[in-house]
Amino acid sequence: MKVAYVQMEPRLLDVNRNLSKAEKFIREAAAKGAELIVLPELFDTGYNFQSREEVESVAMEIPDGETTEFLAEQSREHGVFIVAGTAEKDEKGKLYNSAVITGPLGSGYIGKYRKIHLFYREKLFFEPGNLGFRVFNIGIAKIGVMICFDWFFPEAMRTLALKGADIIAHPSNLVMPYAPRAMPIRALENRVFSITANRVGEERGLRFIGKSTIASPKAEILAMGSEDREEVGVVELSLEEARNKRINELNDVFRDRRPEFYFV
Ligand code: ACM
Repeated sequence: MKVAYVQMEPRLLDVNRNLSKAEKFIREAAAKGAELIVLPELFDTGYNFQSREEVESVAMEIPDGETTEFLAEQSREHGVFIVAGTAEKDEKGKLYNSAVITGPLGSGYIGKYRKIHLFYREKLFFEPGNLGFRVFNIGIAKIGVMICFDWFFPEAMRTLALKGADIIAHPSNLVMPYAPRAMPIRALENRVFSITANRVGEERGLRFIGKSTIASPKAEILAMGSEDREEVGVVELSLEEARNKRINELNDVFRDRRPEFYFV
């Protein structure tokens, strides 16, 4: 199975421009054979909001909003699955830092995830996610979704892996330097693949680190983006590697867990 990250530079509050740019990169990834394409966190709106009003001016309902419709249309047109971060406004006006998953069949909409661990000033605008960690069975693979800072909490990826994920799709807007080094270890300890799609560029003085990363269950870095360029990374994965949790004939990374000792 071929998978891709799209590393791009959204422009703050300019949804039309960001969707057009994403369209070009989705087409490029699909042309290179990717069946699953991961876009950054908040790829349609930008990240460094100054006020709740700014977020409200660009947030949309999921699935009844322009961004989800755009992603579903891209999935149908190219026959691909897409996971992408977006600002969600629910029917009561609550805001979430969410991710949408779309695919080529039916309406195209498959589901959504709402970021559970909010980072820094996100807490001023967004509600913490309330849907739990979700694994979507798309037929060719089981996809677990988490967003950016969720990586800092090993429980997030562990929960997704224990729920059966083969691949962790990880839309991101990373500003701290650690995740490109940490994600291969998260992938190793859970024996899954991970696709971190990060953004590049700067917004109101906040610089994003790029270095989108695809990591393997053996902690290999299969692809890594640059620090400052927009680009697409495409890699072929062998999913059997993620389904085998054995380390040797006597150790299995899930069966050997001792949860009775893991509380304080
Ligand atoms: C982050 O969670 N966007 C750092």
